[in-house]
Order: sequence, then structure tokens, then C-alpha cells
Amino acid sequence: MKVPAPGLPARVRIHEVGARDGLQNEKETVPTEVKAEFIHRLAAAGLSTIEATSFVHPKWVPQLADAEALFPLLGDIAEAREVSLPVLVPNERGLERALALGARSIAVFGSATETFAARNLNRTVDESLAMFEPVVARAKADQVHVRGYLSMCFGDPWEGAVPVARVVKAAKALMDLGCDELSLGDTIGVATPGHVTELLTALNATGVPTPSIGVHFHDTYGQALSNTLAALQHGVTTVDASAGGLGGCPYAKSATGNLATEDLVWMLNGLGIETGVDLASLTATSAWLAEHLGRPSPSRTVRALTPPPSSSPTRSE
Ligand code: HMG
Ligand code: MG
Repeated sequence: MKVPAPGLPARVRIHEVGARDGLQNEKETVPTEVKAEFIHRLAAAGLSTIEATSFVHPKWVPQLADAEALFPLLGDIAEAREVSLPVLVPNERGLERALALGARSIAVFGSATETFAARNLNRTVDESLAMFEPVVARAKADQVHVRGYLSMCFGDPWEGAVPVARVVKAAKALMDLGCDELSLGDTIGVATPGHVTELLTALNATGVPTPSIGVHFHDTYGQALSNTLAALQHGVTTVDASAGGLGGCPYAKSATGNLATEDLVWMLNGLGIETGVDLASLTATSAWLAEHLGRPSPSRTVRALTPPPSSSPTRSE
């Protein structure tokens, strides 16, 4: 049943990260054709922004080392369905690889903390910004859309609490490079709603407007939906989520799955907020992928909506 609540946006754009954030964290590398089918099914379910892969060093993230093989398999989606297929790019080498394949939307990914910057990018925070600078400049010159991810915005597994002022400084520096949008990563899922509101308010105060901010919650402590609601109440209309709740980060211990797209769509449907996503088709896609991965989806909504396999024994009362 649809029961709208006051003060929420009419429409939310879901930035689907399952194929990248999700699959980068799988122990077994998923075959390229399965990834391509996954992304096609996500597009058919109505997702309009589907992060496809990463042009990072293949030794750092071997699960996505097939980016050159995968991206060309997705050309029809971008054309026929007007779906945006962002890819992660850490440096100029990554940008060259992405542009060579015709990528039109990229994401650089910085960190609010020094430890994660070192572990994820082999750089300090300032060195990472220096690495991104020519990437963003070149992308903008080519009219390529640029997202700036910022990780560890609410807490860091090595450094603990991360002060809001520090996050704001790093976010502002990232946006000052010329990024079109900012995604606030709760990489290890420790945020709570008041913290979300405080950070968004502080970002607005330094001149980062709400329409350019997206939120990227992980569900480690079951707070991802509450945090999303706090962000929506603040006016945020871009929410990152991962089909079936896949995900984590190979360079952040305790980063568990992302907010599941199905759980998000269930809540947004109930609130009467448009997403353009067909929940049944999305759920079937995640159930299909879970079968391929050999374990059930952690998404509560996928579990609730997926009929048990017909071969399972029926319980006698
Ligand atoms: P480095 O070892 O410092 O690299 O790694 P380098 O610049 O010293 O270069 C060394 C060699 O790597 C060179 O080759 C380069 O050409 C090559 P050589 O001259 O020795 O033959 N190289 C590359 N090859 C292919 N593609 C490239 C590339 N770059 C250099 N792009 C580097 C630095 C940034 C490359 C490395 O640290 C890296 O790839 N890191 C990526 C880590 C990653 O993908 N992490 C997961 C994504 S972040 C995340 O999940 C969080 C997020 O979801 C939000 C949240 O939840 O918080 C976004
Ligand atoms: Mg993430």
C-alpha cells in the first residue's frame, strides 16, 4: 500500500552499484557473460544508472580485471535504453582505458581518512586528489560526467570516528576538482540518521548543494534504510544501492553488503516515491544471481518475495 509521508521527494534516482561494488568483493570471479547478463537484467528492470565495472589496476581488484571484455557487451543498453553506465577510474591510465571504450560517465574515489587512502589507492589523501585532478579535468573537457566518491565519511575501521569537519574538507576538495556529483560513502556501515543529517547540513554550509549529493550506505548494523530516510528528509534524491545487497570493499575490513536495491525500492514504493524500477523483475534478477553465486541474497525483500525452490521438502504439520 502506498502511504506518502510529508517532506520527501517525489522521485529518487537509484545509482545501482551491484555489478561493481558487489562483484568486486566476491571470492570467485564471476564470468564476464554472467556480469553482462546481470547488467542487462538490471536495465530491463528499469534501473537507469548502473555502475558497470572499474578500470583500476587488475592486480588490485582481479574480480573486475575483465573490464575491457565486459564494457563492449553493454553498448546496446546505453543506446537503446538511455541507461548511464558509470565506471570507476582512479587515475589517468584508468581514464584512458575507459575513454578508449566509449565510457561517458566515470567516478573517481577518494577517502576522508589517510589509512583508507593508503590501503585503497596507495596514496595520501592529498596525493589522491592530485591523482584525480587531471582525470577530472580531461573528463570534463570531453563532456564526460564525473562522480566523486568519498569513503569513510562516518567512521573508519582503523581510525575510528571521523570528524564531520574532516569529511567536509575532503568532500569540498573533491568537488572543487570539478566533479558533477558527490557520493558520501558509509563504507563500513556505522552511520546513524542524526549523523547523516549533521554531515549533509555541514556540507550545505560550505557550499555543496543537496542536489549534487548522493548517499552510499552499507548495511552492517541494519541502519542503511534509516539513514536513507534521513537523507531523503534532507532533500537528497540520489541513493546508491546494490541489487540483492551484494557488496563490500576489498580494502576495508568490516565493509559488508551495500543497502539492497530491493529493500530500498520496497520502502520507496510504500512511500509513493517514483524510481522507475519494477520490483518483481529486480528481485528475480537478484535471486538468479544468488543462485549463480551459490548462496542466498542477504536482502530481506529478496528473501520475502522469492518463492522457495520447488524441490525443497514441504514441512508437515
Ligand atoms: P599503484 O601501485 O600506486 O600504481 O596503485 P602506480 O601508479 O604506481 O602504477 C604501477 C603500475 O600499475 C604501472 O604499470 C601502471 O601503468 C599500472 P608499470 O609501469 O609498472 O608496468 N596502472 C594501471 N594499470 C591498469 N589500470 C590502471 C592502472 N593504474 C596504474 N588504472 C592504483 C595505484 C590507484 C592503480 C591502485 O591502488 C588501484 O588500482 N586501486 C583500486 C582499488 C579499488 O578499486 N578499490 C575498490 C573501489 S573503492 C570502494 O569500493 C568504495 C566505494 O564503494 C564507496 C564506499 O563504499 O566507501 C566507492
Ligand atoms: Mg561501497
